Amino acid sequence: MTPPLARHPHPTVKAQSLAWLMFERPDLDRTERFLTDFGLRVAARTDEALFLRGTEPSPFCYVAVQGRRPRFAGFGLRVGSVEDLTKLAALPGASGIEPSPWPGGGERVRLTDPSGFAVHAVHGAADAEALPHRAPMPLNVAGAHPRINGTQRPPVAPPEVLRLGHVVLEVVDFQATFHWYLQHFGFIPSDVQVLPDGSPAVAFLRLDLGDRPADHHTLALAQGVVPTYSHSAYEVVDADAVGMGHRVLKDRGWRHAWGVGRHILGSQIFDYWHDPYGDKHEHYTDGDLFTAEVPTGVHPTSRDAMAQWGEPMPRSFSRPALTPLTLLHILRNVRRGPDLSLGKLLTLARLFG
Ligand SMILES: [Fe+2]
Repeated sequence: MTPPLARHPHPTVKAQSLAWLMFERPDLDRTERFLTDFGLRVAARTDEALFLRGTEPSPFCYVAVQGRRPRFAGFGLRVGSVEDLTKLAALPGASGIEPSPWPGGGERVRLTDPSGFAVHAVHGAADAEALPHRAPMPLNVAGAHPRINGTQRPPVAPPEVLRLGHVVLEVVDFQATFHWYLQHFGFIPSDVQVLPDGSPAVAFLRLDLGDRPADHHTLALAQGVVPTYSHSAYEVVDADAVGMGHRVLKDRGWRHAWGVGRHILGSQIFDYWHDPYGDKHEHYTDGDLFTAEVPTGVHPTSRDAMAQWGEPMPRSFSRPALTPLTLLHILRNVRRGPDLSLGKLLTLARLFG
């Protein structure tokens, strides 16, 4: 492992979980239709905001706020104590500790990461009741046949989302953003994919929960040409839920992005769908769980390095929509950003374009 990828020895705090994602949306009704077809449930709705949740007790894991243009605004991270909030409130640009106005309450500190994404650190939010979901399907597999005189008939319905699993961001200032999350929230790089020159292209970051297992990644950062949301991922009950989600979303006319397949880094069985604004949302099951002891892995990146089976990653998957404004931003970022040279832009285009 090269030293620049190492975990931070004394982070400001160690985040405990991913609390929620924040979006701005012009049409909350259409947003609600997609997300409920996707398997989330409405937790609360006002004229200005739509809150959604999974079956796990978190009072919400997704908020869409009424806004003129569609935008991913940022995300919330739960921290372990009020002392953690105090430490974060002392960072440059942070808000003070303030009450969270959203379901569950608690207190929060608002920060902005070096790429401009909002990060809300939250503590003390109350849990809601867990909601029921179907049991995992009993599988007849090699050496174990639990289902005798029985059949498999999962309901033809949106798959029940259990919880928000991870969010992936594309950033221009990769190094600064990567180190900010390691230094201030204690993220551990589980695996890093590198370009032929050794510079990181994608970093999969997990929470440091010590001996308690954490998802292989809760946050991932990819070298991009403009700072933007890549996708977010939601855990469902089992592989049949992923497959049934595919059928239901297709039947209801939503646009597919990629899947079904099994990832390599993180191992999830996955399926990606576009929401009404083209933002990708992933169903997954059977992801890897690591304790803090597993060291960082380093691997070459390419489109082929993204899945073990299933359709290859489509070329459209990681390519930004090339509007004149985006092109202008890309050119400016290549000239300004320390991590994005013209050479790297061409390498990314060759590997993923
Ligand atoms: Fe993902």
